[in-house]
Amino acid sequence: MAAASIFEQIQDYANRADPYPLYRELRKTPVVREADGSYVVSRYRDIAALVHDPRISSRRGALQGFIETDPPEHDKLRRTLNRHYGPPTTPDRIDRMRPELSEIVTGLIDRLVGRTEVDLVDDFAYPLPVTAICRLLGVPLEDEPRFHVWADALVQGLGPQAAGDEQARRGADDAWADLGRYFGTLIEAHREMPGQDLLSALVTDERTATVMSPAELQANASLLLFAGHETTVNLITNGMLTLLRHPATLERIREEPEYVIPTVEELLRYEPPVHFVSRTALDDIDIAGTTVPAGAHIYLALASGSRDPDHVRDPDLFDPDRHDPERFDVNPREGQHLGFLGGVHYCFGAPLARAETQIALTELARRLEHPRLLADPPPYRPNSALRGPRHLPVRFDRVRSAQELDTRQQVRAR
Ligand code: HEM
Repeated sequence: MAAASIFEQIQDYANRADPYPLYRELRKTPVVREADGSYVVSRYRDIAALVHDPRISSRRGALQGFIETDPPEHDKLRRTLNRHYGPPTTPDRIDRMRPELSEIVTGLIDRLVGRTEVDLVDDFAYPLPVTAICRLLGVPLEDEPRFHVWADALVQGLGPQAAGDEQARRGADDAWADLGRYFGTLIEAHREMPGQDLLSALVTDERTATVMSPAELQANASLLLFAGHETTVNLITNGMLTLLRHPATLERIREEPEYVIPTVEELLRYEPPVHFVSRTALDDIDIAGTTVPAGAHIYLALASGSRDPDHVRDPDLFDPDRHDPERFDVNPREGQHLGFLGGVHYCFGAPLARAETQIALTELARRLEHPRLLADPPPYRPNSALRGPRHLPVRFDRVRSAQELDTRQQVRAR
């Protein structure tokens, strides 16, 4: 049997806690052809160029929302959804949501009062983004047990590990169909009795139907519910894990909440939730001297690109100060990372994910007294593409009550 390639070793669960030395190896050959004919691109500059290259496609056949469409269709769908979501055409829905996000965070931490040990995933980092996206979209939180199962099946169908896994693919297809049917019913309910939410805004806007079929609307609503699921939870959890490994930064956020802004940017670079995305070559493409043939499957190794030493100095150093604009004279692109990718598919949920994570980390820093890790490394989720801890057991001396702290201290909007 042939020795496992570096890319195969990255998929191996034994390397989930620290894949970064393997990414360093991977970058030595910037474009690698795997045994199954797929290609892996691992340097920052090649990935950043490819996301603007019309010769690569995000299409995967089935109707899976605008994340899997190409321009010009993609841009039309995204623009329609964006009309009710963020700038430039409306006041930013996410900025307006910040007080509500703070309330959700405070409520979740209040539930920990009296305890000295928690699993930060199940008790905090998972419920937060799910509650937030449900409020934003107008999805009843009571339905979470149903869509949780579908979201799990969808994650299993994602990433390099799922390639060739028929069972995972079928499970994901079935979950996608269930989620679509669920939204079919919900969309009708919102049409009859609209609320203040994003889904109501979309279904009551006559322009939506001119751009999206009912099936496309269902698919895009499903995408929005699902996309914020296992990504934000991992950013919050990777974030707390990193801060507990770097207590001076945690302390600084406690004293200077604004410092959470560069910290979250650095987390998106240093411990990002999304490690791989998939594309297909539409034409023969020369990438760093290798010709990737038309039709080939391409993996963009985002977490590797964000730690490329040709892009950032000391890439394995966790340093929020590198996002300080005053240091940009050294390398103006230093602050850029691939955490939300770039180009036309730049993460649609980025403002929401940033707001949630900034508020979450600030409040955890303020309210948990003397927090420390109970397991390092913690147990990880199986997926190599959406990477993060499955549990994050943490101990602390006590939870400070919200009242004893200055509750007016809020993270300013970015
Ligand atoms: C920390 C949390 C998040 C991270 C790291 C993240 C990361 C990403 C990445 C890397 C992509 C590009 C995928 C590709 O092109 O293949 C993406 C796209 C997308 N994300 Fe996020 N995401 C996060 C949270 C969210 C949230 C909360 C939402 C929902 C509101 C969301 C909605 C989307 C959508 C709809 C796209 C597709 C955009 C397009 O194709 O134009 N994401 N995200």
